[in-house]
Amino acid sequence: MNIQKSRRNFIKKLGAAGTILAGAPAVLRSTKSSSQLLGRPVNNSANDTLQVALIGAGGMGSTDLRTALSHPNTEVVAVADLYQGRLDNAKETFGSQIFTTRDYREILERDDVDVVIIGTHDHWHKQISVDALNKGKHVYCEKPMVHSLEEGPEVIRAQKKSGKIFCVGSQLLSSLGYEKAKELLKDGAIGKLNYAEGVWARRSAGGAWNGPIPADASPETIDWDTFLKDKKRYQFDPERFFNWRKYKDYGTGMNGDLFVHIISGLHFVTDSFGPNQIYSTGGIRFWQDGREVPDVLIGTFDYPETQTHPGFNLSLRCNFVDGTQGSYFYVMRLIGSEGLMEIQPNKVILERNKVLSGIDPNVDPSELKKALNDRKRILGPEEIVYEAEADYKGCHYDHFGYFFDAVRNGSQLVEDAVFGYRAAAPALACNDSYFQKKIIQWDPVKMQKIN
Ligand SMILES: NC(=O)c1ccc[n+]([C@@H]2O[C@H](COP(=O)([O-])OP(=O)(O)OC[C@H]3O[C@@H](n4cnc5c(N)ncnc54)[C@H](O)[C@@H]3O)[C@@H](O)[C@H]2O)c1
Repeated sequence: MNIQKSRRNFIKKLGAAGTILAGAPAVLRSTKSSSQLLGRPVNNSANDTLQVALIGAGGMGSTDLRTALSHPNTEVVAVADLYQGRLDNAKETFGSQIFTTRDYREILERDDVDVVIIGTHDHWHKQISVDALNKGKHVYCEKPMVHSLEEGPEVIRAQKKSGKIFCVGSQLLSSLGYEKAKELLKDGAIGKLNYAEGVWARRSAGGAWNGPIPADASPETIDWDTFLKDKKRYQFDPERFFNWRKYKDYGTGMNGDLFVHIISGLHFVTDSFGPNQIYSTGGIRFWQDGREVPDVLIGTFDYPETQTHPGFNLSLRCNFVDGTQGSYFYVMRLIGSEGLMEIQPNKVILERNKVLSGIDPNVDPSELKKALNDRKRILGPEEIVYEAEADYKGCHYDHFGYFFDAVRNGSQLVEDAVFGYRAAAPALACNDSYFQKKIIQWDPVKMQKIN
């Protein structure tokens, strides 16, 4: 439905009726307008400067560092990367005084580093996280927390043993939008949840993970051996290094790259530990460029009923050959018995059924007849849009804000190692399902694969 039109309709109704939403959940009864601003109090307490280092200074690591430095009382002291071009770039961007190295262990040895951001390829996340925690550093590690299901417990153990703060970088769940959605769901705004979905639609080379390769890429400028880690030995191949997402040894496909964002957000909104059954299907339909992971993928996840949510199904699909080219990245829909919510970091669109005072003609047609003879009633809104204020700095900024607050003040962090593993595991199991062509059974409480 056209949002503007629907919003106008709603405002019209509000004007005529004066009051709205009798019988609706409390959070909706306080509604003053169809478009509401989301906000939260600002909390900047600490004066101590946190010394930050970055390991993996590519696209996201550099963005992470910039966001970290946009918080007060933070400064960068060191950067590690395997490619010389990125180290040079880091000095240009963050200042020539920073220490740079190709060997991340040199960074972990430094006493002046309090916090380490890990923005490497996925297959290095676990080892660097464990090494950093063991060296007493607080860690912000990009998603997915680990590269395979087997790696999760080691990170959880290292976090517990170190007593340090460990945060996974799925930033959606720190957004105003996801926080509002959590509140709305809890208050019954869409009734009983039964289905959730996320969709990604792309059709471009970049979107399908074919990026440019720098002209100076060579065995001299790149530490190829370290990049390979303990994986299969290949001759130097810059395609594997720069377009790593296409290869199983270094990336985690659409599941670990994209699905994990929505799964993390969903677990936050529903207070879920995760699904118990995971199935995935797809294929390489267009990008026949030597990639090992699918360019069209569907994942389905069964969430059993728990104390915090009813049983529901999650469907995630991603298409890198989508003729519509519309990208729904970062959008999740939750569907319940009384309506749906579309959740974005800056916005929640809530659509509710127009229920006639408890009588739902869609459910019971005989009641419709009776209702039609009744006096007309005021209907609930078709749509309510909650929007963040214009100067909202966004979920990435907030995610670092919560991380730094945990580091400085010991506040409880949502996306710690246990949460990060419970979000990564279904995504990684989705990979296992695709490659092994079977349904994966998972115990979300014990965090164990069953088959
Ligand atoms: N949170 C988000 O929204 C988001 C968005 C994009 C990417 N990511 C995640 O960020 C990570 C990096 O993605 P990217 O797009 O920035 O990749 P990238 O290829 O641009 O950068 C990765 C960098 O890591 C470096 N690296 C790899 N192993 C290293 C090691 N052992 N020591 C030091 N440096 C090492 C590489 O040299 C490279 O420069 C991935 O895990 C990805 O899933 C998260």
